[in-house]
Amino acid sequence: MSDERAQYVEILQKILTQNLPLNSFKNDIPDVKKNFFNMLFLTTFRHLAFIQETVLPRFVKKKIPQKQKILEFVLYLAITELLFLDTPDYAVLNSYVNAAKRYTDKFGANFVNAVLRNVLRDKNNLLQLPNSFFSRNFLKILKQDYSNDEIQTMQKFIPLEPALDITLKKDTSNPFTNAVILPCGTLRLPANNKVSSLPAFNDGIWWIQDVAASLAVKTLKNLTGKNVLDLCAAPGGKTAQLLDAGASVTAVDISENRLKTLSENIARLNLSQNLSVVCADALQFSSSQQFDVILIDAPCSAIGTFRRHPEIIFTKTLDDVKKQTLLQKEILEHAISLLAPQGYILYVTCSLAKSEGEKQINSFLKNHSEFEISPISIPGTENMLTKDGFLRVLPQSVVVTDYPALSGADGFFIACLKRKI
Ligand SMILES: C[S@@+](CC[C@H](N)C(=O)[O-])C[C@H]1O[C@@H](n2cnc3c(N)ncnc32)[C@H](O)[C@@H]1O
Repeated sequence: MSDERAQYVEILQKILTQNLPLNSFKNDIPDVKKNFFNMLFLTTFRHLAFIQETVLPRFVKKKIPQKQKILEFVLYLAITELLFLDTPDYAVLNSYVNAAKRYTDKFGANFVNAVLRNVLRDKNNLLQLPNSFFSRNFLKILKQDYSNDEIQTMQKFIPLEPALDITLKKDTSNPFTNAVILPCGTLRLPANNKVSSLPAFNDGIWWIQDVAASLAVKTLKNLTGKNVLDLCAAPGGKTAQLLDAGASVTAVDISENRLKTLSENIARLNLSQNLSVVCADALQFSSSQQFDVILIDAPCSAIGTFRRHPEIIFTKTLDDVKKQTLLQKEILEHAISLLAPQGYILYVTCSLAKSEGEKQINSFLKNHSEFEISPISIPGTENMLTKDGFLRVLPQSVVVTDYPALSGADGFFIACLKRKI
């Protein structure tokens, strides 16, 4: 166990110092260990702000010297296990003290041992203290656009395991007897790790898609026979919706690997007939035809997915938001040349930052008077409609009254724009 924990310490250090996604390490972990690895890391990120800001300052009074910085990561994982997981205390102490010895020296190991013993002594008291979940950098991003109350409400979703949302193919009967059916049609199940053991998995009649992500394609009511360009398509959740609604889709993405996943997903759903796949940079993509609809599910900071990917709370900064905003603007401008007269641009981001959503589109509309906002009407989304006619989904926008633990959604922005001429 010690070796394993030492490897996890290194992974945590890489994620937090190089701003990497947790998913990029999933192939380094043997299958039998994956469940624990995920649980440990998700729990760590869900409680890291509390550990950094409330727990550690009580027991570590001096700054840890740079050359022993790895001890911070040892402590983050060890404290998570002591306070929030079921690992026996002696095993936590043993494995992380050994990890500290491996990466530093006996003084490092003694230091970790002393801090962990103090944490353990104070455990009951620590667990009563007010929690904080967002990092300072994350708060900086959110404070640009949201009130303290809105941010506090978003925070409440961090410690909760998000529900599993499912989109069912049209004209298909629901195989999930225990699902809550949300007003927009999404089926919601309690969180579940074993997706492939869910009913009818091999029948290809459903796919996993957060309710917020599923709303974008639902803004367009009649897609039968429409020519749609899906400009940032992989892994293909929205592509599947477009095809299922009867559209012919050209799916473009810059990532060959992700497009491979898209093709596999669409094949599993038996929806490949009207699909062509192109690996290209959206900014370079050209075509002899013009499209009735262009879906831009734009590359973005992805901060709206913090419930499912809580490392984002510690790896994203305002600079990331700014960088993505520029790319989104370029993709929007390029899309105009590919759009048929009276066609639609569906612009989507899984970001909470308004510069990647409301502000981006309002500035586009200011520069392009040939476009107007197309009204959105989807059952159950009335509370998400902005005064301008966009959809702004916050984690707190989706409430399941009968099962409050099943409430929540990813943060999304959706705009449907119509070209007038
Ligand atoms: C938000 S994800 C798309 C999710 C997808 N639409 C779905 O519903 O499953 C954004 C995608 O944009 C792709 N991407 C990033 N930069 C791009 C670019 N310059 N051109 C084309 N695709 C790009 C990424 O590879 C990623 O797959």
